[in-house]
Amino acid sequence: MKIAIVGTGYVGLVAGACFAESGNDVVCVDKDASKVRLLRRGKTPIYEPGLEELVRRNRQEGRLSFTTTLAKAVRDSAVIFIAVGTPPDEDGSADLTHVLGVARDVARAMNGYKVIVDKSTVPVGTSEKVREIVRRETTHPFSVVSNPEFLKQGAAIDDFRKPDRVVIGAEDPRATEVMLELYGPFTRTGAPIMVMDCASAELTKYAANAMLATRISFMNEVANVCELVGADVDHVRKAIGADRRIGTSFLFPGVGYGGSCFPKDVQAMIRFAADKSYSFKVLEAVETVNICQKTRLFAKMQQHFGSLKRKTIAIWGLAFKPRTDDMREAPSIPLIEALLAAGATVQAYDPEAMGVARRIFGSRITYAKGNYEALKGADALAIVTEWNEFRRPDFGRMRALMRSPIVFDGRNLFTREQMGQHGFVYSSIGRA
Ligand SMILES: NC(=O)c1ccc[n+]([C@@H]2O[C@H](COP(=O)([O-])OP(=O)(O)OC[C@H]3O[C@@H](n4cnc5c(N)ncnc54)[C@H](O)[C@@H]3O)[C@@H](O)[C@H]2O)c1
Repeated sequence: MKIAIVGTGYVGLVAGACFAESGNDVVCVDKDASKVRLLRRGKTPIYEPGLEELVRRNRQEGRLSFTTTLAKAVRDSAVIFIAVGTPPDEDGSADLTHVLGVARDVARAMNGYKVIVDKSTVPVGTSEKVREIVRRETTHPFSVVSNPEFLKQGAAIDDFRKPDRVVIGAEDPRATEVMLELYGPFTRTGAPIMVMDCASAELTKYAANAMLATRISFMNEVANVCELVGADVDHVRKAIGADRRIGTSFLFPGVGYGGSCFPKDVQAMIRFAADKSYSFKVLEAVETVNICQKTRLFAKMQQHFGSLKRKTIAIWGLAFKPRTDDMREAPSIPLIEALLAAGATVQAYDPEAMGVARRIFGSRITYAKGNYEALKGADALAIVTEWNEFRRPDFGRMRALMRSPIVFDGRNLFTREQMGQHGFVYSSIGRA
């Protein structure tokens, strides 16, 4: 099948590469010419395990190409995916400027029947708006499909190739048929393709992210209570996770969720419920808890040191989660800003996000070449992202490098016993 994917970010590029890998002819469109140039040189603008190799192979085999010219891509394709960003507006609602702009441009370029698939995360009613725009701009026949994406950054290719389910919101059988054919190769092992109306498909994406964010905020509050009452959140987490009605995923307490999805999708769901005069109280609390949790590690440091003026703080982990270089809404950002405002010096290290961090902090912090280098002369270490390579460090080497052996662990990578044995003062989340 000939496919165009508009928006070559985390979702568009992964979807494009995976659809090409299953034999389709895919052209990825982006308005960012530097991104397209980079991709044409065989480089990927984002870090995602396995992606560069997948892109390279499919380019070489002639199934995947990149362009800034939307019109030709539309003319040459039967299916057009919209995978552009839907950032939060000032009031938290999803900004649909990019999605609706692309819908208009697609419509103007149409030369026959097209299936227009919205893969961006959009509020209920967007597919109807897309339909209206396209209808206004063209006399050619078309179908609009809502096909929300559930991939996780850091495991995006695996998630796309082996989805738990595929959700398709479609209102006509012709488009449904096309989508079933396209996703056939990814659902051979039995993952369900769920066909529903567009409104339900659009809402499903928000409900999924809102549920996951709720679990995180809930566990963060359980952890905070553990600290107050002298309980250990590790025991509590494992014991409640063993209950099959609850399950073990997304029960790890930490320094709050970040990324380009949870914060904005929780806000957008609150917003579109409010537009219908519904106050989504649970989600309002989820968001408030998350904002508070992002200040938790800083509060612990302040409590320990009294003043952070002229203290040197090492930071391990800047990305909002491991296996990505994405720092959008990362908990490391408010932490570092608070440390700098309190007069501390920050020495940071992340395996993948150093380039992104430089664009955010410039010369205001020091960038270490490795996790040990970040510890040189540090008064304390703060662990913010749970990269695997931080899990089994040489504790003796750490102690020798640091001015004082103090660790604030925002991801509970170590146990209190272990850190005590190695001579560290250790503070973590949810362990009294
Ligand atoms: N990142 C994730 O993990 C994830 C997962 C599921 C769903 N989503 C959703 O998918 C959508 C895309 O997210 P993302 O993280 O891939 O975004 P992104 O910011 O990484 O990429 C978006 C791309 O779209 C391009 N773009 C914007 N307007 C354009 C236009 N008019 N024409 C061509 N290109 C244009 C941008 O240059 C950018 O490269 C969002 O709605 C997001 O909520 C993201």
